[in-house]
Amino acid sequence: MIRLVANNPHGNGISVFYDKRKNVFYKVASSVRAVSGLRNEKNGWDWYLTNILRTEKLPRLVEKDNEYARLEISKFYGEKISYTQKPENTIKRVDYFINYYLSCWPRNQQHSYHGDLTLSNIIWGDIPYVIDWEQYGNRKIFWGFDVIYLLLSIIILPYENFTIPSKNILKKLGMIFVKLEKNGVDKKILEQPAAEVKKAIKNIILPRANCEKTKFFLLKFSELEVDILDECLVRAYRYAVYDEYLETFKEK
Ligand SMILES: Nc1ncnc2c1ncn2[C@@H]1O[C@H](COP(=O)(O)OP(=O)(O)OP(=O)(O)O)[C@@H](O)[C@H]1O
Ligand SMILES: [Mg+2]
Repeated sequence: MIRLVANNPHGNGISVFYDKRKNVFYKVASSVRAVSGLRNEKNGWDWYLTNILRTEKLPRLVEKDNEYARLEISKFYGEKISYTQKPENTIKRVDYFINYYLSCWPRNQQHSYHGDLTLSNIIWGDIPYVIDWEQYGNRKIFWGFDVIYLLLSIIILPYENFTIPSKNILKKLGMIFVKLEKNGVDKKILEQPAAEVKKAIKNIILPRANCEKTKFFLLKFSELEVDILDECLVRAYRYAVYDEYLETFKEK
């Protein structure tokens, strides 16, 4: 039995089906633009499966003409966490994901990114599996882009309007930022993460995307809102740096 899973989300011209008998997802494109999006997704999957999961079993792209293509992807088994869950319920998992990412993603490589890493695109199996490589690219983007995007998504997507994270969440984010800094994320990025991610979306991801810009949650915020969010985040980051300094001082 084949079931429709998603139909043209964010106007990307792609429908997703699930074949229960074969345990395969089909992503079907039926316009020139959508076909080019699917070709891009195939490249993303190939990069991920080869470099991160280290498997030779790559998804099959079936192309009929310029206006029809189908990508066949094997199912990953695991839990899904809704992007509408409040950060209080998701930050621990995301922190775990970040540790995983830091342990196996090519370090300091600036040329490969997922481009839309939210909870919707992670399957929590024996390891966290990253799916939906539609926005994949290999242009110059700062190291850590995907995980900072993920962190921003868990504090933004659950809310309809602009919302400042709670003190507790800010504290945890500050500590994660310190960890990211130790793992090579540029300090300048961590001092204005929302503005930097928004800039990268506008300049690098959006010009190549085959969907509407509403998909990219940061773009709906004004410059002032992004500034305010960054102000809160950078404060939390500095407090975390200071706390760590005090700890080493105590140890002496
Ligand atoms: N390989 C896979 N393993 C497990 N689940 C998958 C896989 N591919 C797709 N799915 C499921 O189908 C959903 C839609 O697929 P995908 O994310 O690739 O498409 P999409 O166009 O981004 O749709 P959406 O906007 O709903 O995320 C996923 O959120 C996931 O639940
Ligand atoms: Mg998706």
